[in-house]
Amino acid sequence: MSPERIKVASLLDKVMTAAEAAKLFENGMVVGSSGFTKAGDSKEVLPAFAERAAGEDIQITLMTGASLGHGTDGKLAAAGALKKRMPFQVDATLRGKINQGEVLFMDQHLSEAAELLHNGTIKMDLAVLEVAGIEKDGSLIPTTSVGNSASFAALADKVILEINESVPLDVLGIHDIYMAENYPYRNVIPVVAVDNKIGRRTIPLDLNKVVGIVFTNRHDSPADIAAPDVKTSAIASHILNFLEKEVAEERLTERLLPLQAGIGKVANAVLTGFQHSKFKHLTMFSEVLQDSTFDLIDAGIMDFASASSITVSADCYERVMGDLDRYRDKIVLRPQNISNTPGLIRRLGVIAINTAIEFDIYGNVNSTHIGGSRLMNGIGGSGDFARNAYLSIFVTQAASKEDRISHVLPMVSHVDHTEHDVDILVTDVGLADLRGLAPRERALEIINNCVHPDYRAELLSYFERACAQVGGQTPHILSEAFSWHIRLAETGSMKKAETVNAA
Ligand code: COA
Repeated sequence: MSPERIKVASLLDKVMTAAEAAKLFENGMVVGSSGFTKAGDSKEVLPAFAERAAGEDIQITLMTGASLGHGTDGKLAAAGALKKRMPFQVDATLRGKINQGEVLFMDQHLSEAAELLHNGTIKMDLAVLEVAGIEKDGSLIPTTSVGNSASFAALADKVILEINESVPLDVLGIHDIYMAENYPYRNVIPVVAVDNKIGRRTIPLDLNKVVGIVFTNRHDSPADIAAPDVKTSAIASHILNFLEKEVAEERLTERLLPLQAGIGKVANAVLTGFQHSKFKHLTMFSEVLQDSTFDLIDAGIMDFASASSITVSADCYERVMGDLDRYRDKIVLRPQNISNTPGLIRRLGVIAINTAIEFDIYGNVNSTHIGGSRLMNGIGGSGDFARNAYLSIFVTQAASKEDRISHVLPMVSHVDHTEHDVDILVTDVGLADLRGLAPRERALEIINNCVHPDYRAELLSYFERACAQVGGQTPHILSEAFSWHIRLAETGSMKKAETVNAA
């Protein structure tokens, strides 16, 4: 433990072990924790609480920024420690418990989670916040994410601080902590360019709330980034060609507009593709900074990137944390109710690229559920960006599992993003530009450009029969609309028996 990380002497006697801190949790508490896409999460106290809960009848409601690293959500779920979880998760064990109905999950737009605290709908008993250090004025230096930490610090009754000594103290200055006023006094959030800093460098905290301080040396869990493959490279190249056309037709310049990309291999492949493009002076207004962001900055192609967390591979983590001065004037981490706030996304004109599980012939997108009922991860920030972006792009593979599953369907089994929020759909097969199109035009654009060839004729037949037999603004044959999902559940394939036999 290094005392220079705690610049308020009176706090030194609050230092304790993680097991002691875990004893401060009480049954039924609402607990907030730092952590956003695995970055800046609690690495000692929440896992210690999971250990405690494994042998005791104790449950909490846990709210975070977004997903946690180190399998912590899985440990908590396996120990039966979670009554309710919000607003996002990606853990297989927790997913299983949610789908078995053992853990309640509130799937929420990431920009809105803090609003429930600020308006008093949810009262927070305890917050566990990872920090790099405590300043003389008692304020907190965040680490690799901001997430909801500023709101938790302001609104939780008690706070446990987890000081991560592996994060260099010169991380001070990469954060921009701004708290919007409560309603009805909410004012304009004065970000008019991605690089505007409008707040303070540290998170203010009433030190009377501090009930424990725990030290850790553990790094964030590294992002596992799959290298681009044939499908993700095809998707990336369709998007890059589309953006080049937009520049050629003078709707965009070679700087494009601020980019947002969801986490994962498609987003990574698209951003990697920018390295070999003619775009210059790019910017990001996103929620996560990934390896590809830093590669683009190093290559001199990206000028500035704004987000709520840094979620990178182990190598990239060393590169960034070991040379923060190189990136200090090129990145900023904001609270997630600022990085994802709809007003700023609309004002800045973001180009948003998010992943769908499936989409339908009219452009409705399912990003969260398998087979209509089973949760995958959650909506995350995709809705914040998709609804408000200048260009809302959704990507997915045309088909998966040896092509037994088509990701383009007559009707999606769950809707996260309605047809009204979707401009461009992209699969490895091609790109559908839905701007300015009515539903019947959208259907043909999607069927002709995005569908795997094994499914194209049947989807076209569905659409044509729906137009002829039912009609309407958005023609559907309701008795058949979910037949592909039903066939998958019953036979293990969305293909009709004769198609499977023929193949
Ligand atoms: N029935 C059964 N399985 C289906 C299915 C269906 N109808 N449709 C898709 N699937 C399966 C796929 O086969 C695949 O399975 P696998 O993981 O075993 O290969 C899986 O669902 C989807 O995976 P994939 O297409 O590879 O997408 P992904 O791993 O890139 O994740 C999301 C896609 C949508 C789950 C992910 O991007 C997400 O959680 N998005 C919401 C959050 C978000 O967008 N945040 C924004 C910024 S961080």
